[in-house]
Order: sequence, then C-alpha cells, then structure tokens
Amino acid sequence: MSHEVDIVRAVADLRSRVRYWRAQGLGVALVPTMGALHRGHLSLIAQALETADRVVASIFVNPIQFGPGEDFSRYPRQEAEDAALLSKAGCHLLFAPQVTEMYPEGFSTQVRVSGLSEGLCGAARPGHFDGVSTVVSKLLLQVQPDVALFGEKDYQQLAVIRRMVRDLDFPVSVMGVEIVREEDGLALSSRNAYLTAEQRAIAPALYRTLSATAETLRTSRSPASEACAAAARSLVEAGFDSVDYIELRDAETLASVEFPSRPSRLLAAARLGATRLIDNVALIPAA
Ligand code: PAF
Repeated sequence: MSHEVDIVRAVADLRSRVRYWRAQGLGVALVPTMGALHRGHLSLIAQALETADRVVASIFVNPIQFGPGEDFSRYPRQEAEDAALLSKAGCHLLFAPQVTEMYPEGFSTQVRVSGLSEGLCGAARPGHFDGVSTVVSKLLLQVQPDVALFGEKDYQQLAVIRRMVRDLDFPVSVMGVEIVREEDGLALSSRNAYLTAEQRAIAPALYRTLSATAETLRTSRSPASEACAAAARSLVEAGFDSVDYIELRDAETLASVEFPSRPSRLLAAARLGATRLIDNVALIPAA
C-alpha cells in the first residue's frame, strides 16, 4: 500500500531528512522535475526506486530557465495531484521550495556549461541551459544524492548536466532514462497539455518523421544535412508551423555528424502555434 509522500519546502528540512537516511547507511536518488507529472516522470521515479533505497523528487518551476515571453507564468502547477502521484509511485520525499528559498534576495551566481549548451535548443532559448545548470547544481548540493535521474527527451539538457557533473566533480552518477511515448508515438511532455485537439493530431508527425529519417540515415549513404532538410519540409507539410532544428549529432559530444560512424542522436524541435515540441531518436550506425 502506498504511503503519503512527505513534503518539505526548506533546504534545512530537506538536509535533515537526508542526513537521517545517511546515518542509517541508505542510498539516495534525486529526480528533479518542474511538476505537472506524467508517466515519463513516473518512469524516472520507478527507475530511481530500483537504484536507491530512498527517492527524493523535487518540484520547482525554475524561473531562471525561462526566457522573456516564454511560458513561465502559464506553466502547469498542480502540486496536490503531483504529490498524490508521487505517493502512489512510492517516492519517499518531495522537495517543493518557493522561489525565495532557491533564489534569496541578492542571489547572483550562475553555472554555465559552454559549448554543449550553445546550439540546438540553446540557440532558440538563450540562457535556458544556464538556468538549468544553475538550478540542478543547487539541487545536487542540497540533496547530495548518489544518483540523479533525467529523461532522455531533453537530450541536450542531459548532455549539459553530464558535462557539468564531470567538470565540477559533483559526487553523483547521472542516469538518463528512456523517453516514454503515447501510443501514437508522441513523447510525453507537460507542455503537451497546451496543444489544441487539432495540434495534438499533428504532433505525432514529429516522432514519425524522426524515425523515418533515422531509418534513411541507417540504410542509405545520404548526408545527414540533406535528409534533415527533407525532414524539416515534411514536418511543415504535416502541419507544423515551423521547425527550429532537425539535426544529427554525436550522442555524447553533440558535435554535428554528416555520416554516422558512432552512436548518434537525431534531435528536433518544432512549433505548433505557441507550443514548442522537442524529441529525439537514437541512431546506431549499421555494422
Ligand atoms: O527537465 C526539467 O524538468 C527541468 O529542466 C529540470 C531538470 C527539473 C531543471 O529545472
């Protein structure tokens, strides 16, 4: 039977709970989120429970990772529903701080991972990854988990966090967890809630197009730039308003790839009205 997840809002309370577990020799996992939880988040919690004795989830809609004109104010906030889902999933502790707890008056530090954070989503959302690396650094220092889990849907975010953890010697393992999809292939995202019925019907074309393009790249010698240009055209034909990017990148360094010879990732961001959807698929070159 599931128990109700405990909620703490202050870093001091979070630390004292984690200290108590540590004193008993228990391992701790952290699942950072911005709430509006869906099955993708719950798969992170399930994986965390397999990896550690105690699981902390955080819910914090981080203002510094949203640009001007982005969806910070309308980002879905539903803490009671989220807490119920976390309880059912077996999560042990929810850290849900206020903005002033995370960024008190005078806060002026920023963590920036150069290079990896600059192209792809970083080009369309300047400063976004600085906000992500700053808040994730804080959460890692606040919880000091053995392992932190992130979804592969935000693939560039995962690469940025892995680099940051390596560069700054955070004593934590970062675990990427596979994308969870709807039956029609649409990757689960809290932002899917913004889609109208008409946009929702168009949205699965993103995954379909990525999968078909990955197959073309696996089986033919077409250069990735040509296949991606064709894919961008077909997304617009399918009803997307615009395509921010569709690109083949090295799975680890995110360097551009024209002919894959190592594990690569085909990544895309495209817009349906005001909603920006991202997705990616793995591409292991044929032997
Ligand atoms: O992926 C997210 O939900 C957020 O970017 C994260 C990692 C929780 C940081 O705010």
